[in-house]
Amino acid sequence: MAETLKVAMPKGRIYKKASALFRSAGLPIPLDVDETRKLVISLPEAGMEFILAKPVDVPTYVEYGVADIGIVGKDVLMEENKDVYELLDLGIARCRMSVIGLPDWKPGITQRVATKYPNVASQYFREQGQQVEVVKLNGSIELAPLIGLADRIVDMVETGQTLKENGLVEMTSIFEITSRLIANRVSYRMKNDEIQALCDRLHKAIMSEGTHVSR
Ligand code: PRP
Repeated sequence: MAETLKVAMPKGRIYKKASALFRSAGLPIPLDVDETRKLVISLPEAGMEFILAKPVDVPTYVEYGVADIGIVGKDVLMEENKDVYELLDLGIARCRMSVIGLPDWKPGITQRVATKYPNVASQYFREQGQQVEVVKLNGSIELAPLIGLADRIVDMVETGQTLKENGLVEMTSIFEITSRLIANRVSYRMKNDEIQALCDRLHKAIMSEGTHVSR
């Protein structure tokens, strides 16, 4: 008998896109699951259990093996650097990680960068040979240059609306972001049949939707 797969799903903006992809892959995920406040959801017909986690924590649940697999943005994977397998590019929640600033920004004395992604930002500026002070914030990052906390920010850009409404400009795009399917290393061996079957179904669904995929 197939074993139940414990799936760490990110709450918030990725969740609906991920559950829609699972449904188009033929997995019976009832629609009311999208609205529930429950955090552990048993889905016996799909052979799964969803664990609804804060996106930034998904790689931690998977690394520790309390979830066999998870869905997470490439931004979080790059920042968290956890010991997990990255199995599949789901091609959803597409956006980019960028350096952003006020239109009149020039290299100056302060060189302070605010971000939710201190590891990504530090690595980027180190590679560029730029000495900056990185300040970690937890949200509304665009505020930092507007009120003088930082000269620039490193943040996600999706539609560009937040930048536009706050008079900021995208200076450099650092990398493209999409959501990825990740797996715990032990689960990948112990539940290989189930995980491979899921990957195949998701891959077919992604291809039939015409989304670019790399495995
Ligand atoms: C993210 C990101 C930007 C915004 C980009 O913030 O940090 O602020 O979305 O999207 P856009 O280009 O479509 O405007 P989020 O909504 O996750 O909230 P946060 O500010 O609390 O991080």
